[in-house]
Amino acid sequence: MSGQGNAKGNDQGPPRLILDGELVSFTPGETVYQVASRHGRSIPTLCFDPRLEPFGGCRLCAVEVEGWGKPVASCTLPAAAGMVVRTTSERLEAYRRILLEMLVSENREVDVDPLSGYSSQEFRRLVDRYGARTGRFAGERSGRSRPEDPNPFILRDYDNCISCYRCVRVCAEQQGDHAISVIHRGFHTRIAVEFDGFLKASSCTFCGQCVQTCPTGALADRKALTRRQVPGETKKTRTICPYCGVGCSVDVLTRNGTMVGLQPAMDGPANMGALCVKGQYAWDFVQHEERLATPLVRNRAGDLVPATWDEALDEAARGLREVVEKFGREAVYGVASGRAPNEAAYALQKLMRAGWGLHHIDHCARA
Ligand code: SF4
Ligand code: SF4
Ligand code: FES
Repeated sequence: MSGQGNAKGNDQGPPRLILDGELVSFTPGETVYQVASRHGRSIPTLCFDPRLEPFGGCRLCAVEVEGWGKPVASCTLPAAAGMVVRTTSERLEAYRRILLEMLVSENREVDVDPLSGYSSQEFRRLVDRYGARTGRFAGERSGRSRPEDPNPFILRDYDNCISCYRCVRVCAEQQGDHAISVIHRGFHTRIAVEFDGFLKASSCTFCGQCVQTCPTGALADRKALTRRQVPGETKKTRTICPYCGVGCSVDVLTRNGTMVGLQPAMDGPANMGALCVKGQYAWDFVQHEERLATPLVRNRAGDLVPATWDEALDEAARGLREVVEKFGREAVYGVASGRAPNEAAYALQKLMRAGWGLHHIDHCARA
């Protein structure tokens, strides 16, 4: 067979292996899963997150390698020249289905709300792909939910946990926080913070990354779920978080014009799925019932009363002029809000720089 020499790594050029009968090249250091994905194979995964070090926990990504007796996890298997790999076979499909059947049998719920998090539908999709809702395995269930954890952002419903440890790994590898870890052994293994307490008392910064990588919704976006009753189809709109200068990409979730959540963009060049607590959770001001819908101006009695935009702007201009006349232009200082759009921030710096010739301008995002 032509090219067979390359597959064995004997010829010049990149190393090659045989993937489902096709000779393919790879870059040294790639895993079999990476090579297969690049060549269009859809190998199921659960503990895999491309941003994290391979873990090899769920075994769903198993493939067959010629000469090896048992299926082997492709996400941790380095590609080697001359390898003959099969990504699908009757045996592999049965193996994957049984693994999923065992997980389904253990979890309280498979059909979690998509507002739970970015990856929350991964498990459900695989269960449906493999027809694994068979109720085949009975017995005790592991996982201990912490619905009483009083934090306002993250729901900890470990009855739906499959021990993929993506949450623990993203917290350590991406966030560098190490706020959550695995405690106990065997069947009693579960995710916990130090001293098995609440998130608020731990080193958790509420970045939400564990929520967004969880493939089952065991960790869920508590804030977004308060909007689950809003009717309509969920629409995603890509934008940039306005809170600071990093420029993290986010997807704003809306239903009929009402904001119902926000998720990080996993392909955002500046953040690759990471956000801080403000970017992830401080979005409800957009349609908050106490948000000002009209300008307010203080009357002579000192009370704030509704005004038109013209009245409010005239009043602001009058006040600024008065300060400049009394104390000089150096007394004026502009601070923009991270919750204002970029256009407003631009207009404020124009006012300060072009209007008064000052560099007295700042923005809360600088912090
Ligand atoms: S919210 Fe962030 S810091 Fe807190 S446990 Fe999750 S990943 Fe770690
Ligand atoms: S909580 Fe979610 S991400 Fe963490 S181990 Fe369980 S299933 Fe995996
Ligand atoms: S995705 Fe490879 S073992 Fe889980």
